[in-house]
Amino acid sequence: MNRDTAGGRPQHGQRFDTLRWVGAGLEMIDQRLLPARVEYRRYEDAAGVAAGIRSMVVRGAPAIGCAAAYGIALAARALQGAAPAQFTAGLEAAFAQLAASRPTAVNLFWALARMRRAWEAGPAQDTAQLAARLLQEAHEILAEDLRINQAMGGHGATLLADGARVLTHCNAGALATAGHGTALGVIRSAVAGGKRISVLADETRPFLQGARLTAWELMQDDIPVTLITDNMAGHLMATGEIDAVIVGTDRVAANGDVANKIGTYMVAVLAHRHRIPFYVACPLSTIDLRTPDGSQIPIEERAATEVLGYGTQQWAPSGVAVRNPAFDVTPAELVTALITEKGVVHAPDREGILKLFATG
Ligand code: MRU
Repeated sequence: MNRDTAGGRPQHGQRFDTLRWVGAGLEMIDQRLLPARVEYRRYEDAAGVAAGIRSMVVRGAPAIGCAAAYGIALAARALQGAAPAQFTAGLEAAFAQLAASRPTAVNLFWALARMRRAWEAGPAQDTAQLAARLLQEAHEILAEDLRINQAMGGHGATLLADGARVLTHCNAGALATAGHGTALGVIRSAVAGGKRISVLADETRPFLQGARLTAWELMQDDIPVTLITDNMAGHLMATGEIDAVIVGTDRVAANGDVANKIGTYMVAVLAHRHRIPFYVACPLSTIDLRTPDGSQIPIEERAATEVLGYGTQQWAPSGVAVRNPAFDVTPAELVTALITEKGVVHAPDREGILKLFATG
C-alpha cells in the first residue's frame, strides 16, 4: 500500500489508508482535498482529532468511530505520568470534546463507549499501562472494522446479479471506513467474485462525497462508475437503467429506520415507486437499539457556506437564507434489506434487528 505523507496528485491505482497510526500520532487522509490532492494530516491530541472530524478531514460513520478511538488513545498518551485525578479529568475532557464533534453517526458514540470500557476494564494500573491499553483498543477497533466490512461484503454480494447497475449515494466506501467500505464493500466483493457490476454515483450535494470520493475511489479500483447529479436518479430509474440501490448509514434505529446522507430518503422513495431493491449496508456498531425510531435520531445541521458554494467558490447570493440538514431518515418500510456482518435482514423491523444481536 502506497503511503503519501508529503501530499501530491494521486496516481491511478494507488491505494490509500483512510487513517493510520504512525510513530506516536494519527494520520488521516484529508478528504476535503480529494480527488485533486492526496495529503495526510497528522494528529497528536484529542482536540485536533475532534476538529478533524467536525471539519470532515475524516468522515463516514465507521471512520469517525475509528478516529475518535485514536483521539482517546492520544489523550491518554499525553496524560502519562499525571496524577490519577488529573489523568481522569484530562481523559473525561477528551471524551466530551470528541462526543461533541458530530451528532448523527452513532459509531462515534459506540467507539467512545468501547474506549471507556477499555479504560475501566481490569485493575487500576499506572497511566503508562492505561495509555498502552487504550491504544491497543483503538488498533483493534480499526482492524475489526476492516474484517467486518469484508464479511458484510460477502453477504451483500449474493444480492447483486451479474451485470447489475447499482446506484449509490454519498460515500460509503474505503474512505468512510477502515477499508473496503460498507455499500462499496458489497460492490467490491461482488466484483471480486467475478460479477460485472457498474455503479451510478449520485454527486451528493452539498459536500459532494459522491462526485469527489465515490467516483475517485471506484476509479482507483477500475470499477465502472458513472457520475450523475442527485436530481437524475428518478429519470434513470424510470428509464430502467438502475437495478438496485445500495447505501451506507450513520445510524439505524431499533425499528429499522435509517439515517443517512441528505437525499437518501428521496432515493428510497423513488426506488419504492419503481420496485427497485433498496439495500442498506451497515455494521452492527451503526445500529442503535437505544433509539426507538428515526424521529429520535439527531440530525446534524451544518454551516450555510456548504450550500452557498464549495471551497472558495460561492455561487449563491450572500445573505440568502439557507438550510443545511446533513442527514435524513428513511423509514424502515422502504428498506428492502439491511446487510450486516452477521448476514442479511430482509424487511428489517424490531424483531429482525433484535435477532441479529441475539445470535453469537
Ligand atoms: O457527512 P458524511 O460524509 O460523514 O456522511 C457519510 C454518510 O452519510 C455515509 O453514507 C455513512 O456514514 C455510511 S459510511 C460507511
